[in-house]
Amino acid sequence: MQITTVDHPLALARLTTMRDKRTDNAAFRGALDDLTQMLIYEALRGWPTDDHAIETPLAAHTGVRLHRPPLLVPVLRAGLGMVDQAHAMVPEAQVGFVGIARDEATAQPVPYLASLPADLSDQPVFVLDPMLATGGSMLYTLNLLADRGATDITAVCVVGAPPGVAALENSGLPVRLVITTIDERLDDANYIVPGLGDAGDRQFGPR
Ligand code: PRP
Ligand code: URA
Repeated sequence: MQITTVDHPLALARLTTMRDKRTDNAAFRGALDDLTQMLIYEALRGWPTDDHAIETPLAAHTGVRLHRPPLLVPVLRAGLGMVDQAHAMVPEAQVGFVGIARDEATAQPVPYLASLPADLSDQPVFVLDPMLATGGSMLYTLNLLADRGATDITAVCVVGAPPGVAALENSGLPVRLVITTIDERLDDANYIVPGLGDAGDRQFGPR
């Protein structure tokens, strides 16, 4: 699996804000906005383009447009905090939604929403979820997409842990990973350490 870590100093500075337990919900969402912009920028590096004929005020010019913009799929709740910024970067993208809540006792994904196009066979997909811990939620999402024919999937995450990365690697699914950093480990409750806590709660409050 191709893994791109986005370790630009600005990305690491925003991540530090997100990790800091003194950061309030609004500042956490702001840092996630900024970081999402950087992750999407890197995820689209080298993306195929089509020629696009325009006229500048001075001359005819052939520029480019994105070839086949990715479908953006935030994984609720925490991925919701990435979708507005990703959509601002790729305004022509369509958006699907997946809702999954991890069972706190077992860490198993409990799905509650899938709103996706039926046929993804010719459609690149960006899955947006800040956290990749055990990988259960991401794997569930990848399988939903693969069942609809997706063959070109990018997981766009903020923080991962080795078991989540290994789960994607071993899945055999057509996915690459764009992520700020892969942390040390999971704790006994399957939280990422050092991590940033519960990314859904830190944006929207406890559920
Ligand atoms: C978080 C996170 C991922 C999942 C990662 O969501 O946003 O979806 O946990 O953990 P995993 O890799 O072990 O599956 P959570 O279930 O806490 O729901 P929330 O976003 O609604 O808070
Ligand atoms: N989900 C989170 O929001 N944080 C973690 O550390 C693990 C799963």
